[in-house]
Amino acid sequence: MNIEFSIADIVPRRTSVRNFSSQTIEPETIRSIESFVDTVDNPFGRTVRFYFLDAEELSDQPKLGTYGVIKGATRYIGASIDDAPFALEALGYEMETVILYLTSLGLGTCWLGGTFSRKAFARAMDVGDSQLFPAITPYGWSKKKKHAKEHLMRKMIRADQRKPWDVLFFQNDFDTPLTKKAAGELAFLLDMVRLGPSASNKQPWRVLLKDHTLHFFEAKQPGYSDAFAYDIQRIDMGIAAAHLDLAAREKGIRGEFDFSGEPALPLPDEWKYAFSWRAD
Ligand SMILES: Cc1cc2nc3c(=O)[nH]c(=O)nc-3n(C[C@H](O)[C@H](O)[C@H](O)COP(=O)(O)O)c2cc1C
Repeated sequence: MNIEFSIADIVPRRTSVRNFSSQTIEPETIRSIESFVDTVDNPFGRTVRFYFLDAEELSDQPKLGTYGVIKGATRYIGASIDDAPFALEALGYEMETVILYLTSLGLGTCWLGGTFSRKAFARAMDVGDSQLFPAITPYGWSKKKKHAKEHLMRKMIRADQRKPWDVLFFQNDFDTPLTKKAAGELAFLLDMVRLGPSASNKQPWRVLLKDHTLHFFEAKQPGYSDAFAYDIQRIDMGIAAAHLDLAAREKGIRGEFDFSGEPALPLPDEWKYAFSWRAD
């Protein structure tokens, strides 16, 4: 996949859009999106399937509900995957890459992992029963103003805020916060991780820098991460991996993901090791 937009520009610019205008998207733009989606890959070695839907083109007009969360959208992209290790991380990585591409075109998007009628969308998109179908995004031109429910949602989950560095990032052990100075050139990568979207803005990513390696952990929220048949917060971990990896490529910072196993470290309760990234 070839990323021709700037991660430093686009990551801060992306924000969830839930109110869409009726302005159509040019056919040429749709073709560019389809071509881009075809090229997207992930470091987790899983195959993610994408589905395009234009609800206006459906003959029987099924009720594609989003619990009143999304208004005015007719176009959606869905993603599914076989249930396997690292499947949800792979889906998070690829879908977020697509979302950043859509943002670079000026289009609005919103990750939907909960507030959509999964069955109706699965049927309309022809997603196989054996597939995990964890998320979709609407896409289109955003309306200038947010709708009332959107305002309320953003306020409740403090969607504009992110946890500070000293809550998210550590050095050598979990008692020592990682400073930007100590992170050096890796600071930009972690800044990009920190700005990522996450389910209900819970920001479960925790990162420990040790021996030139960034170890990623998921601060699981019991009762939230297990509310589905799978752990939705693993998608957030995949999003973090995408932001890290794409930022590293942009800056020419070399490194590799390491899935070889968990580092021997005493972990805070409810934290789960996810993956590592080793700087060369
Ligand atoms: C995996 C995932 C699932 C999400 N599911 C929903 C959802 O079901 N409904 C919704 O309105 N927003 C959903 N969101 C959007 C988040 O609420 C949003 O990203 C977060 O509040 C931060 O706001 P921002 O995207 O504007 O930066 C989801 C985000 C992620 C990453």
